[in-house]
Amino acid sequence: MSRVFNFSAGPAALPQDVLEKARAEMLDWRGAGMSVMEMSHRGKEFMSIAEQAEADLREIMAIPDNYKVLFLQGGASSQFAMVPLNLLGGSLSDKRGKADYYRTGSWSKKAIAEAKRFGEVTVVADTERGGKFTSVPAEGAVAHGSDAVYVHYTPNETIEGVEFPYIPDTGNVSLVADMSSTILSRPIDVSKFGIIYAGAQKNIGPAGLTVVIIRDDLIGNARDGTPAMFDYKTHADTDSMYNTPPTYGWYLAGLVFDWIKQKGGLKAMAEINQRKAGKLYAAIDASGFYSNPVDPACRSWMNVPFTLADAGLDATFLSEAKEAGLVTLKGHRSVGGMRASIYNAMPEEGVDALIAFMADFEKRNG
Ligand SMILES: Cc1ncc(COP(=O)(O)O)c(C=O)c1O
Repeated sequence: MSRVFNFSAGPAALPQDVLEKARAEMLDWRGAGMSVMEMSHRGKEFMSIAEQAEADLREIMAIPDNYKVLFLQGGASSQFAMVPLNLLGGSLSDKRGKADYYRTGSWSKKAIAEAKRFGEVTVVADTERGGKFTSVPAEGAVAHGSDAVYVHYTPNETIEGVEFPYIPDTGNVSLVADMSSTILSRPIDVSKFGIIYAGAQKNIGPAGLTVVIIRDDLIGNARDGTPAMFDYKTHADTDSMYNTPPTYGWYLAGLVFDWIKQKGGLKAMAEINQRKAGKLYAAIDASGFYSNPVDPACRSWMNVPFTLADAGLDATFLSEAKEAGLVTLKGHRSVGGMRASIYNAMPEEGVDALIAFMADFEKRNG
């Protein structure tokens, strides 16, 4: 068996220890005589898996008691709609309620487009310049406290590799964050948020699971006519068991949470992530051949886009990298070049191997 270093933005690499544990438990989960995939979600075995996963996530993120943790489906993209449906009031035929949105990259653009279907959206900051997103507003530059019901932002824009180095201070207005590509990468103060949501397929587990962390007072306000599956209250009242939840994804997420605990929690993750990103950006900046367009103050720890001096070499770079066991480095078509996603599960040796490969490629082609 030979495992590659997989730099995919998502679904992304999972910790090898987690995959090995899942393999060991695949046919017979701890004496149950069956795989987790085959269990009833209401049986006592799966209930114990579900409860342990939630308890571990609460512990590693220090989630306060007045927040619910929901294990849903539909991806972060469903949350683009669920957030306004549940927070902006009104009825389905009567658009009501105002929300402030930061527009800092491709994913926040999608969140804005969806929210506009349900309420009045004010774009309070827009960092697009010449068709590109390479920065976020300076801390404190955006005023809040208007009549907005909530403020939405994307702490890490996965495609552009742009990250907020701060949490916006929105005063009394609830802050909603699409944390899909940065959750669990470092400690955060959950109490600063009304809602945190994330598709699992980067730092949490496999695709198909969506985690929502929501403050109690934001539950139970869905607009009239909201389908049950899109109402946070439905899921909060049933411990995310209203319908069949994504059981195997939930189980694997639990293994990932346990792995993070064993590694020293989010503080340890943050140290490793900062070091991994730091050395990759340093290598890019030190070369005359590679470049990263993002303002150094808001470069992502998780997604590192870079371009080659000659885009004509992109295909050669990718095929030689693949031969060296470094895969899924192609950048998003809107940014071009390469993108190395280096989530929690990317070992430091993977980043070292990429840096060494890049230096060697530059020597031969630069
Ligand atoms: C920041 C961010 N938001 C939203 C999404 C969409 O997530 P999903 O595919 O789970 O709907 C992604 C996916 O890559 C993302 O990176």
